Amino acid sequence: MTEWLKSAVFYEIYPQSFKDSNGDGIGDIQGIIEKLDYIKNLGCNAIWMNPCYDSPFMDAGYDVRDYKKVAARYGTNEDMKQLFEEVHVRKMHILLDLVPGHTSEEHQWFAESGKVEMNEYSDRYIWTDNWFKRAEGLAYIAGERERNGAYIINFFKCQPALNYGFLHPQEEWQKPIDHPACLATRKAMIDIMCYWLEMGCDGFRVDMADSLVKNDDEIKSGTCKVWSDMIHAIQEKYPEAAFVSEWNNPQSAIGMAGFQMDFFLDWVGNGYNLLMRDYDDTGRDDSFFKKDSTRSIQDFLREYIPKYEAVKGKGLYCLITGNHDMIRAAYHLDENELKLAFAFLLTMPGAPFIYYGDEIGMRYLNLPCKEGGYTRTGSRTPMQWDSSKNHGFSEADEVLLYLPTDDGENAPTVEAQQKRDDSLYHTVRRILDIRSKQDAFTRHDNLEIVFAEEDRRSFVYRRDDLVMLCNPSDHAETLEIDVSESDVIFMLGSLKKSGNNCTIEAQSFAIYRTA
Ligand code: NOJ
Repeated sequence: MTEWLKSAVFYEIYPQSFKDSNGDGIGDIQGIIEKLDYIKNLGCNAIWMNPCYDSPFMDAGYDVRDYKKVAARYGTNEDMKQLFEEVHVRKMHILLDLVPGHTSEEHQWFAESGKVEMNEYSDRYIWTDNWFKRAEGLAYIAGERERNGAYIINFFKCQPALNYGFLHPQEEWQKPIDHPACLATRKAMIDIMCYWLEMGCDGFRVDMADSLVKNDDEIKSGTCKVWSDMIHAIQEKYPEAAFVSEWNNPQSAIGMAGFQMDFFLDWVGNGYNLLMRDYDDTGRDDSFFKKDSTRSIQDFLREYIPKYEAVKGKGLYCLITGNHDMIRAAYHLDENELKLAFAFLLTMPGAPFIYYGDEIGMRYLNLPCKEGGYTRTGSRTPMQWDSSKNHGFSEADEVLLYLPTDDGENAPTVEAQQKRDDSLYHTVRRILDIRSKQDAFTRHDNLEIVFAEEDRRSFVYRRDDLVMLCNPSDHAETLEIDVSESDVIFMLGSLKKSGNNCTIEAQSFAIYRTA
């Protein structure tokens, strides 16, 4: 595995909302550069930045109009180059967000593809051979271009799908994955990746990585083949390049497609979701990290362990505090609950990903849709740095801000959290500091479950010489676990040792080093 990933801790930046350096109300690359030391001091040594390319922003930049051009609102390609350099000076790494499955409908390739005359780009997208022809099982659009056909879309209407072919083509217009037109799409994507890698980026978070080949089988063998070819081509030239997939199927993504990392995503009711987001509109909340929940960690482990085991030693199955597509963790968890949740996420195997602002407990705001965000919009508000104008995010007039800042009572800020020693921010920082000093956290094939019972709330796990004990509940639990000979290296709450037993007090988390 790429060496630097073993000790990587990622910080996700939504560039629109991180730091505005030129007073136009929207975050930009120079703003990110200004705040690199903040990210490093928190204890993160790697960054994933959401799309920053030229775009009409119908889906916040996941609708790319020009893959090789930085969107003017964020700066220039020169700024990007400078960002890469500044990141590397600090011995950090940075991943850009690659959107390989679709472009914006305003991309030049798509303009050419929609023309009646056949040209180099006619088959860059997937067109049926007649405007009236239905594309079974796939979303498609007709009535927009002069070409006689309907085209397949990948997500929103504005995102026509690029053509990587069909696993088992059944119609003339469906191409096999090794058709020259599909190989040309791959080549174009490799060219784009090389462009940014050459400039200094360290790899990519890959959007909808599983979506490339259409009518693929359950394990996505067609898409895996395409990725494995593309990743190999890249790694021949850039052996250190890192790839993390938006897939949530590490067996395919890591085991077959060649990614080094895959995310455990927040699918409704799945193991990850049950940790911090198992609530509904009626006020019910049974998330594992709610202190009054009834849930045991088994519900998470049932899904996590088989996937972890399947790829352990080969790649990293990564846990996230949140991302730009989901409701912020602080929506339902209070500060103590968040501390425990983060202590867990940051000490499990895999490279952890912290979504900007989660480290200070930024809240979810109920906001109207912006740039295709819909319910995601409320998790994309400007970073709250301090108590100055617009929480230190921007000098612009409030009306110009990309999204409003959280002006509610007790809105968390970096400044306030840094002043309070027992804040979430300092907790995250302390754990990351410990993480950076313990070899056990750089190996990722060493997870052992020590205690996880259906009818108990506590969870104890081990990684080499480190034992993590977590009791997220509102009552103490006594477990038959002997830590009498061990040294405590981190503690939230408290724990009492008595012979072969220990009592973990309510809402406590401890890390012990065994002899
Ligand atoms: C997943 C991205 O995370 C999301 O923000 C985007 O809207 C879709 N893919 C479409 O690209």
